[in-house]
Amino acid sequence: MHNTINLTEDLYWIGANNRRLSLFENVYPIPKGVSYNSYVLLDEKTVLLDTIDQFVAEQFFENLEHVLNGRKLDYLIVNHMEPDHCSQIKAITEKYKGVKIVCNPKTKKLIEQFFDLKVAESDFMIVKEGDVLNTGKHNLTFVFAPMVHWPEVMVTYDTTDKILFSADAFGTFGAIDGNIFADETDFDHRYMDEARRYYTNIVGKYGTQVLAILKKASALEINMICPLHGFIWRKNVQQFIDKYINWATYTPEEKGVLIVYGSIYGNTKNAAEILSVQLAQKGIRNIRMFDVSVTHPSYIIAEAFRVSHIVFAAPTYNAGVFVAMDNLIRNIVAHNLQNRVISIIENGSWGVTSGKIIEEELSKLKNTEILGQKITINSSLKDNQNGDLEALADEIYKSIHKDEVTADAPAKIDRNAMFSISYGLFVLSSKLDNKDNACIINTVMQVTDNPKQVAIAVNKVNYTHEMILKSGVFNISILTTETPFSVFENFGFHSGRDTDKFENFDNKERQSNGLYCLTDYTNAVICAKVVTKIDCGTHYLFIGEVTEAHKISEVPSVTYDYYLKHIKPNPNNKLEEKKKGWICKICGYVYEGDVLPSDYICPLCKHGVEDFEKIV
Ligand code: FEO
Repeated sequence: MHNTINLTEDLYWIGANNRRLSLFENVYPIPKGVSYNSYVLLDEKTVLLDTIDQFVAEQFFENLEHVLNGRKLDYLIVNHMEPDHCSQIKAITEKYKGVKIVCNPKTKKLIEQFFDLKVAESDFMIVKEGDVLNTGKHNLTFVFAPMVHWPEVMVTYDTTDKILFSADAFGTFGAIDGNIFADETDFDHRYMDEARRYYTNIVGKYGTQVLAILKKASALEINMICPLHGFIWRKNVQQFIDKYINWATYTPEEKGVLIVYGSIYGNTKNAAEILSVQLAQKGIRNIRMFDVSVTHPSYIIAEAFRVSHIVFAAPTYNAGVFVAMDNLIRNIVAHNLQNRVISIIENGSWGVTSGKIIEEELSKLKNTEILGQKITINSSLKDNQNGDLEALADEIYKSIHKDEVTADAPAKIDRNAMFSISYGLFVLSSKLDNKDNACIINTVMQVTDNPKQVAIAVNKVNYTHEMILKSGVFNISILTTETPFSVFENFGFHSGRDTDKFENFDNKERQSNGLYCLTDYTNAVICAKVVTKIDCGTHYLFIGEVTEAHKISEVPSVTYDYYLKHIKPNPNNKLEEKKKGWICKICGYVYEGDVLPSDYICPLCKHGVEDFEKIV
């Protein structure tokens, strides 16, 4: 039975999923499966773009026959000759006699190496970069992309509909679960890790070549990207291209620490665990740790591309490096990782060599810094080595924060300047799985008038941000100068994870998107659906297209300044009431307790510990 997807008026996906295959290329685990994408264009001439892997050939041919619906096949464009995309070339030439094989000279050579085709030379249409194939309404042009991922690779660009058939570029591990468009899949949460793992392991070595094709692509207007694996891109394409630029330039996506250890009897693991806790206690939150004997190297390589700092901890083994770590290190070198800060812990009961060998291997990587003293464990970690680990944690902490402006550093950035920006105050509501929630935000702006779009910035600590990421919808109630402090307390001082903020709040009404807005203390409500989201570190910036908007009253909108002067409780009174604690200098919120946690964030104004002062 056929299973095809109509992508445009005359373009079809005719690929297939494989969820049974355990190892892609017989190397990489694919627990979420993989899709093999093939496309058919039904113009005055019919065009097949690449075939599929042999394991899904039956489905592919059913799809192809269904879409062609009795028409002959005129062209087969071969963008990539790896067998997971070319396996059916011979079968196609036998089934659709006279089909023209569109390819470049390197492709033709590979076709002849893989297959003994019974076709005439005239059945090949050999193209060079920039050649155009007219199929009726469509003009298809060819752009060469050598080493993304094999030397013969080219991409095909449909100048009529502005669709890029990108071969392996922009592919993702993971079968297509119904929705083929990336924007319909909550891609960042469900598939970004797999997209990174696919890129870094399959084409990670070829950053220069990937940048070359990105440069060529940047000159094209692109409405849709159709890769050979995974989802099709038609929205937020630039965000994915930005990830590609990060990966291709070997730039860490985030400041963070990957700790990877090999351990035979647990002693090296012990050191890695202690270091991870020490890093966390210093305030580093972005830490991931893997046992190299347990986690497949492809996951660790993907993480090594994601973060800035890596700690390798490994025993000595056969006068070399512990075998699983040895394999990982060689893999990382083969993938050409660059621009990383690396620290090393070695272990050995005699003739300790693992650290030296790891350092020698990794020094082959460009722009790699070895940070801190290499720590040597003889059999087991001793109490007096705790200080060595602490010193390493310190070095890593300082290295991660070295570019940041600290309170003691000469102030290039006067933080008070930020307080001169004018802000409003808003109740931001969302809903997910029948649970309503809302929080207070101070950042809403209209970004375009046609269509009407608004931008909101939401702190990631807010549960509402999580709901919006998943649901893609939000409502804004614009608060007025008549809003009592209790409204700010209700929506700003608790987490929606623990409480139902709307349970005892009567002044609310559902809008046609099913989400609540306030009916009192608001002069207008705006409902929106997310069209773009940008990860800004501590916050997400969501841009939403307005789906509904109502004016409710003429009472002026409250500004942040008005709130500080007229609505928030007087901090001095608070001081008298509460003798112990810390007060937020920005909004007056009082944290009761002797010790202010180092990562504390004001529940009302979302400022950090640097804006709190101890009540004396
Ligand atoms: Fe899925 Fe390089 O091929």
